[in-house]
Amino acid sequence: MAALYLVPYLEGRREDAFESHLRKGASAEISDGVRPAQQPVDDHRCNWNTGITKPSAVNVAHIGPLYRLVGLMNARVEEIFRDDDQVFDSIADLIPNPDNPTPMLRLGPRFNPHAGYEILLKLEGMNPFGSIKDRTAYFMLKGLHLKEGQSLVEPSAGNTGIALTALANAQGTPIEIAVPEGVPEEKKALLRLLGAELIEVDDELCPIFPSEGARGVVKSMVESEAYGGQYVSPNQYESELNVAAHYHTTGPEIWRQTNGNIDYFFASIGTGGTISGVGRFLKEMNPNIRIIGVEPDKRHHRLSGLKRITDLPEEHFPTILDRELLDDLVSVSDEEAFKAGIRLARTEGVMVGPTTGAVLHAAIESGAADTGRAVLISADNAAKYISDYARYLDD
Ligand SMILES: Cc1ncc(COP(=O)(O)O)c(C=O)c1O
Repeated sequence: MAALYLVPYLEGRREDAFESHLRKGASAEISDGVRPAQQPVDDHRCNWNTGITKPSAVNVAHIGPLYRLVGLMNARVEEIFRDDDQVFDSIADLIPNPDNPTPMLRLGPRFNPHAGYEILLKLEGMNPFGSIKDRTAYFMLKGLHLKEGQSLVEPSAGNTGIALTALANAQGTPIEIAVPEGVPEEKKALLRLLGAELIEVDDELCPIFPSEGARGVVKSMVESEAYGGQYVSPNQYESELNVAAHYHTTGPEIWRQTNGNIDYFFASIGTGGTISGVGRFLKEMNPNIRIIGVEPDKRHHRLSGLKRITDLPEEHFPTILDRELLDDLVSVSDEEAFKAGIRLARTEGVMVGPTTGAVLHAAIESGAADTGRAVLISADNAAKYISDYARYLDD
């Protein structure tokens, strides 16, 4: 009976792996090539034809003669789960790359009213630790060579801290995260869940480099002789590996997923790692692609992870942000960002974080004048911002 469920599950979702598994000589047989999902479904309450039907006598009669999977039930487990069957030894192996990219979603006319202006949303919330920062954390950790007894410490408004802590846990390295005040409670709760030592600092969501708040605390822990070199910081604000992560993964993924057919790239700016890495890669492939940055419209905002760079004194710019790449910079308010996020959830069923809302708002506003294809980064999903969203849900 279990075999009958296995077939519909594999239908579509893992069809190629399944078919090639069969070709490799597994003992299941397809008797006449007709699939269960192509069969008329007798039960009208289950008529979307996924093949997942109630195990009624009728269905057993349909499927039984077509698929004789008894052999598969007896197969050795190594025959079923091959190397490329998405079975991994470490959570770190789930970090995406051009051969295993995060998905993109084409937004429909209920959200995007501009015919001729296509919007593709790259869903970074589907990364293993829930945000685009998984890539950055992975690259930065790869580049660090810790000595015996050393610990990691990093200033983070949440996402980098979560990814770094998860990866550090997976390799057994102790870690402390300095979080500015104003970081959503959900993010702090996740850091606690992961067991990170939290240093809560009286600060803003986007601390000013290099002396204040969370960044200042981390800087002193790394440099102070009192700690005797115990702490090492990956330093997402200055690490070229932050840019490299996107130059080597996010950028090439976008290029492949669109076959190079892209006119605009939108990303919000925090450290500037995403827009600098992807922007550099895309401009090298095609200098005509327009790179558009999105920032909060004021310095004090609720778009956790972002930095307002307009009017920021020169000495406070994130050193890795390559401003030469930016063709345009759009400012978005908290309300515009959260409302765009809510509208996306209610038109497309996709629940994104508020920085994605900011990028969506910018892309839709500019889209009225544009044609072509835009790729937007959705940096994370809505789960960490439920209490922030709640302020806008009654309107
Ligand atoms: C939710 C979210 N969106 C956007 C960004 C900005 O990304 P970047 O630091 O690569 O500029 C961040 C950075 O932390 C973030 O957490």
